[in-house]
Amino acid sequence: MLTIALSKGRILDDTLPLLEQAGIVPTENPEKSRKLIIPTTRDDVRLLIVRATDVPTYVELGAADLGVAGKDVLLEYGGQGLYEPLDLQIARCKLMTAGPVDTPEPTGRLRVATKFVNVAKRYYAEQGRQVDIIKLYGSMELAPLVGLADKIIDVVDTGNTLRANGLEPQELIAHITSRLIVNRASMKMKHTDIQTLIDTLSAAVNARH
Ligand code: ATP
Ligand code: PRP
Ligand code: MG
Repeated sequence: MLTIALSKGRILDDTLPLLEQAGIVPTENPEKSRKLIIPTTRDDVRLLIVRATDVPTYVELGAADLGVAGKDVLLEYGGQGLYEPLDLQIARCKLMTAGPVDTPEPTGRLRVATKFVNVAKRYYAEQGRQVDIIKLYGSMELAPLVGLADKIIDVVDTGNTLRANGLEPQELIAHITSRLIVNRASMKMKHTDIQTLIDTLSAAVNARH
């Protein structure tokens, strides 16, 4: 049995067409179902529906053999416990700093609101910049508007969310796409099945690009 951890929304939407190339189709709609374990048309493959930020945890600890996670989530999760054999080239965006339009940098300590606390600490440490990191779980764009922070670090795609809130993209931290991740023990124990799946997904990705 192969267990694949996925999150609802854009990752599920963009991964299902790739999985279909390997004959893996959910037998019920994961977006609508209240079930968190979804069988597929391949009786040796099932899907687990988890939060995007929880995918690396399920895979590293072996509750899932494979998963799909954004590089932003993987950078924040850290650790050496996962294989990352394939860039699926889906959910493309950028991890950036952003702040209010036409506003000079504060002279003292910078206050940065983000859900990517580890990424933020690393980024400003590399710059030798003193910062206070404020951990949020969403709606980061609100923080500078109400004086909670000077800047944010978040993912940016079209820039519409920043613009709608009077913010502008500033520094690029990383280009982001979603990656297939694999549990280390599974990679050994289920090598043939997993390698076959990686090869099929890889061909499906290449056929598109
Ligand atoms: P949750 O909804 O559980 O808080 P989330 O917001 O991180 O989690 P998604 O919005 O589904 O979940 O994002 C999944 C991944 O897709 C992110 O980790 C990121 O890599 C990428 N992503 C996020 N927002 C965008 C976007 N606007 N455009 C393209 N890719 C995005
Ligand atoms: C994501 C992200 C930004 C927005 C960026 O939110 O958190 O707010 O997309 O995309 P844009 O540059 O195209 O506006 P998402 O749509 O995932 O909503 P969420 O708040 O539910 O995560
Ligand atoms: Mg989101």
